[in-house]
Amino acid sequence: MKVIEDAARVREWTEAYRRAGLSVGFVPTMGALHEGHGELIRVSREECERVVVSIYVNPTQFDNPDDLDKYPSALEGDLEACRARGVDLVWIGRREDLLPEGFQTWVEVGSLTSPLCGAGRPGHFRGVTTVVAQLLHVVRPHRAYFGRKDFQQALVIRRMVEDLRFDLEIRRVLTVREPDGHALSSRNLRLDEAERQTALAIQRALRLLAARFEEGERSVGELTRHLRGAFASEPRLRVEYAELRDADTLELCQEPDSIPDEPGRVLVAVAAQVGGVRLIDSILLGDTSADFPSDPSPNDRDDEPT
Ligand code: PAF
Repeated sequence: MKVIEDAARVREWTEAYRRAGLSVGFVPTMGALHEGHGELIRVSREECERVVVSIYVNPTQFDNPDDLDKYPSALEGDLEACRARGVDLVWIGRREDLLPEGFQTWVEVGSLTSPLCGAGRPGHFRGVTTVVAQLLHVVRPHRAYFGRKDFQQALVIRRMVEDLRFDLEIRRVLTVREPDGHALSSRNLRLDEAERQTALAIQRALRLLAARFEEGERSVGELTRHLRGAFASEPRLRVEYAELRDADTLELCQEPDSIPDEPGRVLVAVAAQVGGVRLIDSILLGDTSADFPSDPSPNDRDDEPT
């Protein structure tokens, strides 16, 4: 496995892969790798002949400097995890390459970035899309892999890729959960046991909505009341948003709307803080068997290119 810092050398290698006719899969990360990243790498490994992982804690996507300072770093373990999963090249991004002196060009996606995380984290998505655009230009992968947990991020990046005609496919890979249902996140490392227990209210709320939908509830008003009610007994959780939104446009579903029967059309998205740690999670109504499997599902990725 090659470990490279210099962006120009990464480019040389990935160009060599392309020239040799090999398909290149790319998993951009901010390090502190966990099983969720492992799953992105696994799917990429399955679908591509070469797999490139980048590790770069992108300062421009942190609206809160404290969050950036506390972001976990575990380079040795990350490299070990990549090696064990058969990654071909790890690019450890450097600030001088990605945010050099005099840098002043930003990539900004429109209305998809306004609600949910965009509302509470001004500038966050602008930071994400700007750095992802650069990473994609350097690596020039055939496919890039993003987690469905960061649903809005994957949607925003897909929009950017379509609008700016990047020549690649964006793949969305399902959320990996711990046995108690917690969505895996690098931020989970900052929770103590009591905070973990409190945070479980998030996935309980999502499960509740999934169950109500399965039972036939289609009223947006009723489902929204169930969602809000699920957090009422957990005052230590500071809910930032808990909403039902169209899974393509992210427009808010509002009373008196009904949810379509078709699975996967409506996103239930939650962001909440516990002990100063911000957590997000989401499900697609009617499409949750893979999110909360009773029987671990053999194929847990979206089949259609997004
Ligand atoms: O999801 C992440 O880890 C980051 O937002 C990404 C896509 C690597 C961009 O910095």
